[in-house]
Amino acid sequence: MRTQVVIVGSGPSGLLLGQLLATIGVATVILERVDRDHLLSRVRAGVLEQGTLELLDEAGAGARLKAEGLPHEGISLAFDDRLHRIDLAALTGGKHVMVYGQTEVTRDLVDQREAAGLTTIYQASHVEPHGFDGEAPYVTFEKDGVIKRIDCDFIAGCDGFHGICRASVPAGAIRTYERAYPFGWLGILAEVPPADHELIYANHPRGFALCSMRSARRSRYYVQCRLDDDIGDWSDGRFWDELRRRLPPEAAAKVVTGPSFEKSIAPLRSFVAEPLRFGRLFLVGDAAHIVPPTGAKGLNLAASDVRYLFWGLREFYRDKSPAGLEAYSGRALARVWKAVRFSWWMTMMLHRFPDTDDFAQRIQEAELDYLVHSQAASAALAENYVGLPY
Ligand code: APR
Ligand code: PHB
Repeated sequence: MRTQVVIVGSGPSGLLLGQLLATIGVATVILERVDRDHLLSRVRAGVLEQGTLELLDEAGAGARLKAEGLPHEGISLAFDDRLHRIDLAALTGGKHVMVYGQTEVTRDLVDQREAAGLTTIYQASHVEPHGFDGEAPYVTFEKDGVIKRIDCDFIAGCDGFHGICRASVPAGAIRTYERAYPFGWLGILAEVPPADHELIYANHPRGFALCSMRSARRSRYYVQCRLDDDIGDWSDGRFWDELRRRLPPEAAAKVVTGPSFEKSIAPLRSFVAEPLRFGRLFLVGDAAHIVPPTGAKGLNLAASDVRYLFWGLREFYRDKSPAGLEAYSGRALARVWKAVRFSWWMTMMLHRFPDTDDFAQRIQEAELDYLVHSQAASAALAENYVGLPY
């Protein structure tokens, strides 16, 4: 079997790249480890930058997003028992973000791919990229007990943090940078109206809390927890009590409680691998970098990589020029590192660390107070939150 680009992984990165390439007639095959139902059941974050929206639209997957997404023109920071709104639109010349779950983004892209009759091979095991340091790369995998091979021009490693593509690169050719944070986020989904019409990021001496949403009837909430916390110890009642204790009274009073239908603990990590290109293999999205969710950048960074790689492949196929592919790693990483910096900074400012004593708590509050009262500092936050330019 032969195709132009083999895409390993059918998350948002792989699906979006596949749809964009389809718009210019470049053939792709996606190899995915899990089955379709599993893929569509994962719960992830849900804040999309305008640049991400534009790219999804260009890929033909923007219709439901435009109809059902919730445009947000501001966020609130909560500390010292009060809410402080950051007016994203006013501070960025009218930009906003869209709240729309990543699960729905994935579903829209899968629907689009299926409607176009493009090939995705689910439950492909033992996927292995080969020969990417030469002119004739290929990928092998096992499906239904049979080993198969696909020859191609390029391999896109869109297979997430635990994928095979990054692991296939010779150790001496790659460098990684990492920061693990000493806490997790306990997140729940519940069929209740959100506490506020915008997101609330709360710094509290008991730990961070976040009020988010999926729709006018579905809320997504998080509280900072210990990494070794047992999810079984977090009844819904305990969760709601803890959330309300960490919010200012005016927000706590508006929290509507109800049974959770999803509850999980996620660790927080910053990670970057460099470079993103190894001959004819490209790393994209979570396969190359992870950010803590505090800045809502994970999916947006995946889309950012996809945009640069798409430009490079378009230049290669249309203009017969390798320049865009050669520039991919440098261009993508420049934007990645700025989002890594922003996510790290939001994380440091909003969470309680093991060494956050009363002094450190006051320093965090002073930084937040400065941030919400200085036009320059608010504008810097807003500019990063809505997404830096490409
Ligand atoms: N072979 C085939 N597929 C694989 C393999 C493998 N060896 N390993 C992983 N995969 C698949 C996973 O099952 C998953 O469907 O690759 C896909 C990777 O998807 P994501 O982890 O969602 O990564 P990405 O598409 O880059 O999306 C980034 O997802 O994790 C969030 O915060 C992140 O929002 C960001 C977005
Ligand atoms: C979410 O809705 O899941 C969400 C929103 C904002 C974040 C992180 C997660 O910063």
